[in-house]
Amino acid sequence: MLAGKRVLLIIGGGIAAFKSLELIRHLRKRGAEVVPVLTRAGEEFVTPLSVSGLAAQKVYRDLFDLTDESEMGHIELSRAADLVVVAPATADLIAKMAAGLANDLASTLLMATDKRVLIAPAMNVRMWQHAATRRNIATLKADGVLIAGPNEGTMACGEVGPGRMAEPLEIVAAIEMAISDGPLKGKHILVTSGPTHEPIDPVRYIANRSSGAQGSAIARALAALGAEVTFVTGPADVAPPDGVRVVRVQTALQMLEAVQATLPADAGVFAAAVADWRMANAASSKMKKDAKGSLPKLEFAENPDILATVSQMKKGRPALVVGFAAETDDVIENAIAKRKRKGCDWILANDVSPETGIMGGSENAVTLISADGVDVWPRMGKSQVAERLAAAIAARLG
Ligand code: CTP
Repeated sequence: MLAGKRVLLIIGGGIAAFKSLELIRHLRKRGAEVVPVLTRAGEEFVTPLSVSGLAAQKVYRDLFDLTDESEMGHIELSRAADLVVVAPATADLIAKMAAGLANDLASTLLMATDKRVLIAPAMNVRMWQHAATRRNIATLKADGVLIAGPNEGTMACGEVGPGRMAEPLEIVAAIEMAISDGPLKGKHILVTSGPTHEPIDPVRYIANRSSGAQGSAIARALAALGAEVTFVTGPADVAPPDGVRVVRVQTALQMLEAVQATLPADAGVFAAAVADWRMANAASSKMKKDAKGSLPKLEFAENPDILATVSQMKKGRPALVVGFAAETDDVIENAIAKRKRKGCDWILANDVSPETGIMGGSENAVTLISADGVDVWPRMGKSQVAERLAAAIAARLG
């Protein structure tokens, strides 16, 4: 599965670095080429000689090594790989990645790469649980960085808990998943998800009951088929999946702006339950009751229709635009009309009447409406709906 693949392996400075030697061996056994980079701190734990011996490759160590620059510049080095792996990823390296620092070879390669990055964190349990590391990991996840481990267990320092680097074979499995040539490899797909919150004043808002579960499952299923996914999400209950780029927004106007900034894309799936209206007269300070008990007058303005805006783009429209139609009455007829009105290619119609339990629930019953006709899918879990949709998208884009 890894034959002919090239992995750029950055070895950070942690006691777990010795496991990276085994990782190199396993990767090469599976046919991968391993280009090793050793940080200064990494050299304290494993020698350049053992790394280059196992990789049967030169070890890259210094950003300002002019010989390397003439052979292969750091930009090229960062891109001439199918995947960049950081193992062990120390608290320091993770912090640098999250902050976007580029002050040595490893951090510069991580900034310059246009490939996916997988990290295998390894550190003391307290460092792993530290608020700064929590923040940095959340940032990296939102940037689409893949994370293998860490595992729980006894650490070299004697403490017990999460922080042990994943075992080499576990990292190999994560690498195989990340590198696999899924049918959507090389395709960029935009997914919108969740509700939007439209402020009434700084403390109150209008919202809807969308949990973001269906959108999140769709993003996960597309990424599993190898797509590069940008996930534009409103304030949802369900967390975004790993391995996708996350853009968080609150309002419909912000969602439209984020979507436009994300394009071009090969396909767009608009699963968000965007609020149709926002306040035309949102207050900039908290609205107060008055002595006379007078009621606030809320005025509405219509939000832009993001799906229709993208569907009707003259230039740069994704080749496939998929919308949802949340209906309570005449589901199919309304959805057929909605597809035409908005100009999208496919629409997934679903009945969101309260008795179906679909809005906010774990199941969905959809009908796929396209120019080719109407395809009724049986009621199934939201993740199965997502997988079936992802497979249909792959067949269409492939
Ligand atoms: N949608 C959107 N922007 C909006 C409203 C809806 O992108 N401002 C998208 C949704 O993400 C979904 C589709 O349009 O893919 C249909 O949403 P739905 O709520 O069913 O339809 P509405 O356009 O709101 O139409 P109506 O209220 O008349 O049913």
